[in-house]
Amino acid sequence: MDKTVIREGEAEQNPEEEVLITSLRAASWREFRGQESVKKSLQIAIEAARKRNEALEHVLLYGPPGLGKTTLSHIIAREMGANIRVTSGPAIERTGDLASILTNLEKGDILFIDEIHRMNKTVEETLYPAMEDYALDIILGKGPSARTLRLDLPQFTIIGATTKVGMLSAPLRDRFGVVHRLSFYEPRDLTYIIDQAARKLEVMIDAESMQEIARRARGTPRIALKFLKRVRDFSQVKGKGEITLPLTHQALSMLEVDGKGLDQLDIRVLSAIIEKHKGGPVGIETIASIISEDIQTLEDVVEPYLMQIGFLKRTPRGRMATRAAYEHLGTAFPDSPNSSSQQKLL
Ligand SMILES: Nc1ncnc2c1ncn2[C@@H]1O[C@H](COP(=O)(O)OP(=O)(O)OP(=O)(O)O)[C@@H](O)[C@H]1O
Ligand SMILES: [Mg+2]
Repeated sequence: MDKTVIREGEAEQNPEEEVLITSLRAASWREFRGQESVKKSLQIAIEAARKRNEALEHVLLYGPPGLGKTTLSHIIAREMGANIRVTSGPAIERTGDLASILTNLEKGDILFIDEIHRMNKTVEETLYPAMEDYALDIILGKGPSARTLRLDLPQFTIIGATTKVGMLSAPLRDRFGVVHRLSFYEPRDLTYIIDQAARKLEVMIDAESMQEIARRARGTPRIALKFLKRVRDFSQVKGKGEITLPLTHQALSMLEVDGKGLDQLDIRVLSAIIEKHKGGPVGIETIASIISEDIQTLEDVVEPYLMQIGFLKRTPRGRMATRAAYEHLGTAFPDSPNSSSQQKLL
């Protein structure tokens, strides 16, 4: 296997869990719940491309981890009746790697590039003509005698996925005809996703337990599925195998997930801002160093959800904890007149 083409989930940390999550992957539009406007727009683009008998336009999907970017790419490929090749930005190290992937594509094929923001600059520039004109410019030789050879490529589609769309260069972003941001899911949709997965796993679970897992899953299908699995394991050991609300509560509290779905890392971030910096504003670098975490994780995984639930604000001067965050941690919100920066948030 070409080393630049990775297996699904290879980049994930917990292989056992990832296998399970992959096995539960929504395989069709019917199984793919929520994100209605994204779905509609993709369905139209797919239908139009099929009618014209052309490859689908290049698609860029972005949003926090676990919201369904990889899943959508596979559904798109299926709907287009196309082959999908999977790779990632950092796996394509040299332009030669990219050239070998592209020249092996067939008409209509889909090339899924995960973490596309991590692609190296030279590789990225080689991709421009490939995306725009289905052509690859190869430089032969070095120095003054170097010449460029233009190779024609079959019509193909790139689906790029990223958690950090801000890190994509404008020229790359502009070459995607269809661009969608995936947003956090409503508990109602997560409940449906959990129900569907429970049926596939053949576990008995009551409605309250599904709702409870959904409520604590930070709007994220992957987390909901992970919780379902943990709760199932717990119920098999501690109960009669059937998942009930008390067992769900116990299992989730063992995972140290609170009623809002916040875990220890979220709490440490909020505490760092509230306790060490009077609620902010404080720079992300400072927060990262207080709790010894890397900035990337904080920006990709922690902050989007804390902002979504209104616990954290980004300001030009740094991050600030909101009144809701103080209340959640059971800390008094400072009302003193000199905390003027806090007042502005109310
Ligand atoms: N809308 C949905 N309906 C049903 N299941 C979903 C939906 N979105 C995601 N899932 C399920 O959640 C799991 C994680 O989704 P996926 O791997 O596609 O996320 P991702 O956005 O690619 O994450 P990452 O950024 O970490 O790569 C999969 O098992 C997938 O089937
Ligand atoms: Mg993915």
